[in-house]
Amino acid sequence: MDTYAVHLAMAALVGASFVAVSAYYMHRKTLNQLLEFAKSVERESDETTPRTTTTRRSIPRSTPRSGGATAAGGRGMAITAALRRPVTLPLLFKIIGNALEKQQACLKYNGEIANQDVVDVEVVDSTIVILAASGCHWKSPSHASSTKRAGHLIRPTSPKSPVASASAFESVEGSDDEDNMTDNAKLNAYIHTNGNVVPECNSLFKDLPSQNNANGEQIPIAASSMIRSHSVSGDLHGVQPDPVAADILRKEPEHETFVRLNITPNEMPSPEEADVYRNLQACLELRQSYVFREAITPWEKEVISDPSTPKPNPSPFDYTPEGKSDHYFKMEDGVAHVYANEDSKEKLFPVADATTFFTDLHHILKVIAAGNIRTLCHHRLVLLEQKFSLHLMLNADREFLAQKSAPHRDFYNVRKVDTHVHHSACMNQKHLLRFIKSKLRKEPDEVVIFRDGTYLTLKEVFESLDLTGYDLNVDLLDVHADKSTFHRFDKFNLKYNPCGQSRLREIFLKQENLIQGMSLFSHLSEMLKLHVEKGFSFLFCRFLAELTKQVFSDLAASKYQMAEYRISIYGRKMSEWDQMASWIVNNDLYSENVVWLIQLPRLYNVYKEMGIVTSFQNILDNIFLPLFEVTVDPDSHPQLHVFLKQVVGLDLVDDESKPERRPTKHMPTPAQWTNIFNPAFSYYVYYCYANLYTLNKLRESKGMTTIKFRPHTGEAGDIDHLAASFLTAHNIAHGINLRKSPVLQYLYYLAQIGLAMSPLSNNSLFLDYHRNPFPMFFSRGLNVSLSTDDPLQIHLTKEPLVEEYSIAASVWKLSSCDLCEIARNSVYQSGFSHALKSHWIGKEYYKRGPDGNDIHRTNVPRIRLEFRDLIWREEMQLVYLGNASFAEYMEP
Ligand SMILES: *[C@@H]1O[C@H](CO)[C@@H](O)[C@H](O)[C@H]1NC(C)=O
Ligand SMILES: *[C@@H]1O[C@H](CO)[C@@H](O)[C@H](O)[C@H]1NC(C)=O
Ligand SMILES: *[C@@H]1O[C@H](CO)[C@@H](O)[C@H](O)[C@H]1NC(C)=O
Ligand SMILES: [Zn+2]
Repeated sequence: MDTYAVHLAMAALVGASFVAVSAYYMHRKTLNQLLEFAKSVERESDETTPRTTTTRRSIPRSTPRSGGATAAGGRGMAITAALRRPVTLPLLFKIIGNALEKQQACLKYNGEIANQDVVDVEVVDSTIVILAASGCHWKSPSHASSTKRAGHLIRPTSPKSPVASASAFESVEGSDDEDNMTDNAKLNAYIHTNGNVVPECNSLFKDLPSQNNANGEQIPIAASSMIRSHSVSGDLHGVQPDPVAADILRKEPEHETFVRLNITPNEMPSPEEADVYRNLQACLELRQSYVFREAITPWEKEVISDPSTPKPNPSPFDYTPEGKSDHYFKMEDGVAHVYANEDSKEKLFPVADATTFFTDLHHILKVIAAGNIRTLCHHRLVLLEQKFSLHLMLNADREFLAQKSAPHRDFYNVRKVDTHVHHSACMNQKHLLRFIKSKLRKEPDEVVIFRDGTYLTLKEVFESLDLTGYDLNVDLLDVHADKSTFHRFDKFNLKYNPCGQSRLREIFLKQENLIQGMSLFSHLSEMLKLHVEKGFSFLFCRFLAELTKQVFSDLAASKYQMAEYRISIYGRKMSEWDQMASWIVNNDLYSENVVWLIQLPRLYNVYKEMGIVTSFQNILDNIFLPLFEVTVDPDSHPQLHVFLKQVVGLDLVDDESKPERRPTKHMPTPAQWTNIFNPAFSYYVYYCYANLYTLNKLRESKGMTTIKFRPHTGEAGDIDHLAASFLTAHNIAHGINLRKSPVLQYLYYLAQIGLAMSPLSNNSLFLDYHRNPFPMFFSRGLNVSLSTDDPLQIHLTKEPLVEEYSIAASVWKLSSCDLCEIARNSVYQSGFSHALKSHWIGKEYYKRGPDGNDIHRTNVPRIRLEFRDLIWREEMQLVYLGNASFAEYMEP
């Protein structure tokens, strides 16, 4: 109940997230520093006649050229900036040495420099710096930079720490104050540098203006406030107020120029390398042959001409009868095949069979294990990371200026989708607590449970636990993941039990005490099943539905946050689908900010043990046959039909770290799978994929929405999980094990497969936060987004998604540009409709590269996307040996 209760109370009371609160404090702190700083400047200029050197010594990094604009943030900020991205310069050179020397490559900065900085400046000089390191010519044109005008000393600091380079100077941090050479003298000193580059380079980079706004981990909103406070405080130094902010706003964001990073690899890969690349090509082509893609892309189907906000669907659950089609389907070896009619012999939508799939999977596994391929991919990945660091050094400043000049948008009002969150854990614990208390107060006499032959009301349940509503607090609720759950999935499941009392859980979150170990993913349908059978149908469902509605309205209130909730279908009965659909429809669970995913717990062995199923085929039948039925004849399950319009994906969940046997090329068919062991992950993957593939083809041919395959993969367990998803999945949740396989990681990069990562959740279960590969994946250019996974166990504030972003931003020193890019990725990865996506991230979002970006909506500068696109194309060209072809549009 100590600090975190205070935090909660604070969040609840103020009605704001931590973020906002801390932003406020940070902002205030900054202002104070600013004032302090201003005073000291005044003091000094009083004492002495303007002696630049003295004045400048008293101000950290005060020369504009040396990134002096940090000044506004004060020393503390500058130091935090220095911690960003632990890439040291020596390392940089070492890598260039290794990776490029070997390939006889050269690293050049081909800078096309902005001729004018946005801040009104005079260009001081431009000098070309050549550094010879390992035979590479590194040209860095010096940058246009501001002259030393007092007004600039307090140029508004950017709310981000732009540069990887900053961290390169850990060793020299603190030496800034001593730095009293003139800029020219300094530059000249480096021009003569040769070989022994390290210390000089440190200072050289300090000179790049890209660091100007080096500044700690503040959150974006601080930016605007600081700009404002700057202009309000006005004449701090006895000079005219600096019209910086206004200037920035007048500037067209699109006009930012981009310092291109031109790293030319060896034109001709050696024969061995070419061989490796051909192997990678083959893997990419295999993926192309498996993954379901819509034949007609959403943007071809529906051209959005009206740029205004799409109107909310007034009656999302209305059913208009649609005719039955003649299609005939039947399960053959675990995969449902569709025929034009009952007599037809020709499969309408052929899909790769299991043997082919497992053969291809083995091929991929062989490729990713080969030593030379691993080495090369590792090199490429490290190089990608370094390129991003260089990009930040050169362009971070420009990126931030572009962001500032995009009117209205900041991190808070760009759209972000929580791409991975489980519905049963979608509220935070305080919310759950309040809900329980309010139910106890308002509806104590509802009969809520049938236990040991008696019906108990809510009040009686609490009495039997010897609890009153007043006793309840978050600690007692005890659903939070803490240290004891680290690496212990079984304990984690226990945590899912409010008050350690399964009775409460049964009521509010519904627990199966029937099935050990299922509680983590136990969901609605289970509750429905238990209670429908016992004649309670509506009550329990009503509680969960009410809670869900409250969560929906929180989302709607935040406006810029969306979520994709995952609810379970277990595959124990065919009626599960109808129960789920009627729960959704009858409770009117609809929100413009929400779409649904279905998650399938991989629990064959449990059901088998309980005698619910006889073979794996039963599960497949229970899951997929109702879907085919409703697709062929919507009238057969009208509620399911309307519910499926809001289902965008199918997920597979369970603890991946359970041991499993490696799949072989010839696996028993699902009907033959009658033993008590759970099939391997890839076995589940194949059968879900194949059934979903034919289902989607059928749905597409009938003009219905499709359901993408988006499993949990690579959270733990073997690497073949990730290989199986590489072949079949649209995007995946987690993927942290990609850090163990450079080849797969590189393939995921090339194919730009989406990863919905949840570093906080991983913190409590499998991987410490600071070891999470998220920042590495992000800088390498993988398609990553941040998601919450289980707010009930993990997050403390009312806006779990923002909490996730905020912690990532401060731990990994992500800039506001980074955050907005991640948010933009999350919209791409999500299953929201074409109309909504165009509204959220830009009319032409489906175009590749910077053309698809609209900074007015995403707040991501063109420069960033140009960089990502350029680097990705280079990489593809390399892998395709110069013969890559690029589609103009993204893959749907
Ligand atoms: C700073 O300048 C003064 C005089 O110009 C010089 O004596 C001193 O050594 C310089 N300090 C450094 C660190 O270069
Ligand atoms: C990222 O992944 C999503 C699917 O998960 C995809 O739609 C999107 O195009 C990808 N982004 C890029 C830049 O390819
Ligand atoms: C390059 O691609 C074209 C068509 O895409 C193909 O005809 C040609 O053979 C390829 N060239 C090489 C060297 O692979
Ligand atoms: Zn999850």
